Amino acid sequence: MKIELNKNKVFFSNGSVKKEIHPFWLRERVSGKKFLDKGTQQRLFDPTFLDNEVLINKANITDKFLEIDFNDGVNSKIEINKLALEFYNEDTLLKSISKIKWDSSLKEINNFEYQENFFESKEMYDLLISFYKYGFVIIKNVPTHDNFIVKFANSIGSVRRTNFGEYFNVRSKPDPNDLAYTSLALAPHTDNPYRKPVPCIQLLHCIESEVTGGLSTLVDGYTVTEDLKKENFDFYKILSEIKVRFRFIDKEVVLEDWSELIKLDENKDFKQVRFSPRLDYVPMLEKRKLDLYYKARKKLSEMYNSDKYRIEFKLSPKDLIMMDNHRLLHGRTAYETKEGNRFLQGCYIDYDSTEGKLRHLKRKFSL
Ligand SMILES: [Fe+2]
Repeated sequence: MKIELNKNKVFFSNGSVKKEIHPFWLRERVSGKKFLDKGTQQRLFDPTFLDNEVLINKANITDKFLEIDFNDGVNSKIEINKLALEFYNEDTLLKSISKIKWDSSLKEINNFEYQENFFESKEMYDLLISFYKYGFVIIKNVPTHDNFIVKFANSIGSVRRTNFGEYFNVRSKPDPNDLAYTSLALAPHTDNPYRKPVPCIQLLHCIESEVTGGLSTLVDGYTVTEDLKKENFDFYKILSEIKVRFRFIDKEVVLEDWSELIKLDENKDFKQVRFSPRLDYVPMLEKRKLDLYYKARKKLSEMYNSDKYRIEFKLSPKDLIMMDNHRLLHGRTAYETKEGNRFLQGCYIDYDSTEGKLRHLKRKFSL
């Protein structure tokens, strides 16, 4: 990217395209002490109060700076490198981390070891990168006292409270309001598909594990849906077009949200999966369409439940798993309560927590 001048106009060119930069766009970015708060990087002026007819009286390029005199008497020195970063209209940090597809052949699970000052360490940065690549990470040796999971979550960002509370205890209990609180096997599912918005990341912390069963299971919804797209595009298409109703009811609340089972972004790329077949209700569409929808959902369910895609592992006490609830499905194998205790604590955080932390650590370590 190059900045060029021509008769008091500023242009950028990337080799093939050359375009004029709007003078107002540059005026909004003046950065002197009078115009920008150094600490917060927030403007000290309101650009909506400026006259729209901002013009450039004089412009000059020195080594690393673009110097401009505007017609309203303001003069500014803008770093050319910083300008270059502004020409991507998207989040370049997250886009730079490519998702790695995985299935049951995934051998190396990327584990991290909890240690002092963990949340401000380079390891934490590596952990977050790994999280965005694989959709999950496991952290060993995380203290289990005093609901430490809440402290853990709040050290990355903020706990996302739900109707299950700030955090929840996963162990079998009488009269449960969710099958999670039994000793039954749980097929791969995403959590809280009925919430608006769906919590992004689930943390699960193993406190006690005295049973032989109760293995944790994970499936990469990204891998499965990309495979479905290749194998049966009609199935993929209908599952990414029809919005179904997810609903949760207990004595205090009725939660409801509508979404596709495979949600795509504006570029028709993977965005999110929701899967919880005890809770989804498709609207009453014409019979032919529903025929295809039911076949597609069955196929998707078979793939989610197949050995081909599932990894299984045992969480030991002090292990904490952090998983992307928009990308992965999770479940567990059944266990015998007679054998002893199985006790996990869980909570949620949202992407702004991990993204905010990632950007902070990138800045801190100049990465
Ligand atoms: Fe769950």
